[in-house]
Amino acid sequence: MNKTIVSLLLALGLVGAAQAAGDPAAGQAKAVVCGACHGVDGNSALANFPKLAGQGERYLLKQMQDIKSGARPVVEMTGMLEPLSEQDMADVAAYFASQKISVGAADPALVERGQALFRGGKLAEGMPACTGCHAPDGAGIATAGYPHLGGQHAGYVAKQLTAFREGERSNDGDAMIMRDIAGKLSNKDIEALSSYIQGLH
Ligand code: HEC
Ligand code: HEC
Repeated sequence: MNKTIVSLLLALGLVGAAQAAGDPAAGQAKAVVCGACHGVDGNSALANFPKLAGQGERYLLKQMQDIKSGARPVVEMTGMLEPLSEQDMADVAAYFASQKISVGAADPALVERGQALFRGGKLAEGMPACTGCHAPDGAGIATAGYPHLGGQHAGYVAKQLTAFREGERSNDGDAMIMRDIAGKLSNKDIEALSSYIQGLH
């Protein structure tokens, strides 16, 4: 392929950048230090630490690269990814991706609003449904790097949506997909969506 076509495909995300495939078995040993916050199998106990279990490998690797470079600042993880090479990070991503996420429960009082937003978006404001990229069951699209959401802690999801809305999290690319969408969500929308997502599977 000529260079222009390759860079076009890269920009569209149709071919992955040259990267080593992760080895889940090698990743398990390298992920021990992560378990203190994220849980040994990637199912964290506390809502301020995201569950990594069952998350897409491509998404996990991208977040690690962004956290390491500072594109997504996570103070709790300062310096923690420094000793890891690209291969190490790919292995760790493969390990957590191979685990099964535990699902929580949604608040019954918030389900209707959360489900309507998740499946229907806000057409009048041009906000697309979440299902288009995160799938109706919240599984995401691993190959495209669209994260798995179903079962994630509501507290963490709410924090991310708020951070995208306020522009505090800005690693969603030049298209600003998530900053744009979250900009159309009220606090009540975020509360309902996050609760719905926590129970989604
Ligand atoms: C001291 C606690 C702590 C440790 C240890 C830790 N992390 Fe984290 N990590 C966090 C916090 C807190 C966040 C989320 C910050 C936020 O709210 O944006 C996070 C976020 C992440 C994310 C983004 C998840 C997502 O859904 O976007 C990944 C990936 C991640 N950590 C990987 C790792 C890996 C790999 C290790 C081990 C090498 C590790 N973390 C060790 C606290 C920790
Ligand atoms: C056009 C595709 C698209 C749509 C529609 C979309 N998202 Fe996303 N979302 C993404 C992508 C891509 C990312 C990852 C950005 C990155 O790489 O950091 C993401 C990230 C997220 C995250 C952060 C996940 C984590 O583990 O930190 C949350 C939460 C989220 N989206 C919720 C939603 C909700 C709720 C909706 C509907 C209101 C929605 N998204 C609609 C593409 C989309």
